[in-house]
Amino acid sequence: MAQKKFVFWQGHSRHYLEMANRNDRRERIEHPDGYGKRTGDCGDTVEVYLSIRHGRIQLVCFDTDGCMNTNACANTVAELAEGRNVEEAWEITAEDVISYLETLPPQHTHCAELAVGALYLALANYQELKRHPWKKLYPGK
Ligand code: FES
Repeated sequence: MAQKKFVFWQGHSRHYLEMANRNDRRERIEHPDGYGKRTGDCGDTVEVYLSIRHGRIQLVCFDTDGCMNTNACANTVAELAEGRNVEEAWEITAEDVISYLETLPPQHTHCAELAVGALYLALANYQELKRHPWKKLYPGK
């Protein structure tokens, strides 16, 4: 068993191992500048919280009840989005996430789609809040 675990970790890229094991972004922000929540066909959910200043993404936090692959994908979305402006963040695709991770198992590419989908919803929410700032005070309206 220990031998099998060793082989599993050996078979993954450095990016995958970093993103799969990173937990410091798993946090819920109160009154985020953008929020998105998406549930996939597998039943797992990713929630994305954005902190944005002057149109640039400062911080991406997330929460998920998904597997290690989902954690890796959500972390990668955050890694790719932080520092970009909002228009650039819309260009992040599931293929970008898969390519960054290098060794995401093919049967888990839907995890990348789920994480990117939650990011898109958070970006759309940011744009909505910009048009109607009062909605930030009344989440869900
Ligand atoms: Fe459900 Fe990864 S297995 S999102």
